[in-house]
Amino acid sequence: MAHQNILVLDFGSQYTQLIARRLRELQVYSEVLPFNTPADEIRRRTPAGVILSGGPRSVHEAGAPRCVPELFDMATPVLGICYGMQLMTDMLGGEVASAPHREFGHAVVTVQPRGNGEPLFTDLPSELRVWASHGDYVKAEPPGFSVVATSANAPVAAMEAPARKLFALLFHPEVAHTDHGMEILRNFAFRVCGCIGDWTIESFVEEAAARIRDQVGSRHVVCALSGGVDSAVAALLIHRAIGDRLTCIFVDNGLLRLDEAAQVQRRFVDKLKLPVVSVDASELFLRRLAGVVDPETKRKIIGNTFIEVFEREARARGQFGFLGQGTLYPDVIESVSVVGPAAAIKSHHNVGGLPERMPFALVEPLRQLFKDEVREVGRQIGLDEEFVHRQPFPGPGLAVRILGEVTPERLTLVRRADAIVAEEIRRAGWYRRLWQSFAVLLPVRSVGVMGDARTYEHTVAIRAVESRDGMTADWARLPHELLAAISSRVVNEVKGINRVVFDISSKPPSTIEWE
Ligand code: XMP
Repeated sequence: MAHQNILVLDFGSQYTQLIARRLRELQVYSEVLPFNTPADEIRRRTPAGVILSGGPRSVHEAGAPRCVPELFDMATPVLGICYGMQLMTDMLGGEVASAPHREFGHAVVTVQPRGNGEPLFTDLPSELRVWASHGDYVKAEPPGFSVVATSANAPVAAMEAPARKLFALLFHPEVAHTDHGMEILRNFAFRVCGCIGDWTIESFVEEAAARIRDQVGSRHVVCALSGGVDSAVAALLIHRAIGDRLTCIFVDNGLLRLDEAAQVQRRFVDKLKLPVVSVDASELFLRRLAGVVDPETKRKIIGNTFIEVFEREARARGQFGFLGQGTLYPDVIESVSVVGPAAAIKSHHNVGGLPERMPFALVEPLRQLFKDEVREVGRQIGLDEEFVHRQPFPGPGLAVRILGEVTPERLTLVRRADAIVAEEIRRAGWYRRLWQSFAVLLPVRSVGVMGDARTYEHTVAIRAVESRDGMTADWARLPHELLAAISSRVVNEVKGINRVVFDISSKPPSTIEWE
């Protein structure tokens, strides 16, 4: 079950995880480790190769991140990218200087006429448009290296010391804007590191069952099914491994989208035969939310009530040794800040606080996977396409999309408007392009006219954003016809709403949700 592995040492680039994802697309398993991972730890993982990521610092700054020097003497191939290249240069005796012409964005590199080596550019054209982003450059390569490519602004755009298996690129092969970037990574993985491409989603699915059985033994597992992709895929994998020793608990908190509880029943119970206990706790949640307007208080009430209901149900259903969770790889990557103390932008947790409160060990079958891999696993184990491409939905549900107090009437309004938004966005072919799209009920009423009568009713805002990971986002430039269709349907079909506005704020400075 051990797969070949290329380690990516993280020097703080926004593209670090992308390098690992690209390698996995090439069917090479890849893990991201902190830049300062000790030599023993690197050796213990017997990597087929190591990639040094880019990063925001300059090697000349005090406290700039460095890898262990032994890395370059392990006879393991190393590829430095951008900052990784500059670090390699600095640590091995070359010269890094501030670039007279900084390059951010597209650049053209020229690969030198082929000599014996340069396996990275095998079968590629000699001129490549690449994506670069650097203020420093390599002025002189370290002793023993030869220059393999140059650009107008950089005498060394790629260099290598093939006998020592060391390679470096000034630009980012992992980003889509670099021509033949995947081929360059493929050449590194397959030609230089000797990878054979033994990491596939099929092999992951096959091995997952054995791994889960090993961990769980003959004990029982309980899972919280949220209605989202991650918890569903985790539960399905666990179910394949241990059958009915799994119990899933689905809590209807009354804050779900239109028809969502019924869909869970149809999809997971009727079709996929998952053992699911559905608990309708909507009255309890709504009672506790009555009169509450502060967003963080809403979140706390919802989180605590969820834990209480879940705990009660779990205790009532037997003795569970394990809690199954859909934790993904980006949540477990350990990162060390390269710019001072770690900035604490903590992602929101769907199943807030469960493990801390309950005496469970965790089974996390998706810990190794990126989101796109989870979708692929989901597809392979029987989930439909529409479900695996669902946009994220926050744990506190529609409560954070109703500004002000959550009441049954307001829930009905936002739920019905939201369903129309989703339907129209799908119909227009925009659903998958968007990170999220939804309706928000605002705490204002405004005057309108319908037929001959004056109205004084609610307003909804439409939020539609594009994003890579939810940390930053841009408002989507939806076509006017699509906005028009949404607006006229919402006003015509949802009694109580007479005005629709479109949110044109990006994150930062705004957030994606309004609360
Ligand atoms: P913001 O609004 O912070 O949202 O820009 C970023 C992403 O997180 C989701 N989100 C939540 N998810 N519990 C969750 O499980 C929450 O309390 C929560 N608040 C925001 C949001 O939908 C977006 O994808």
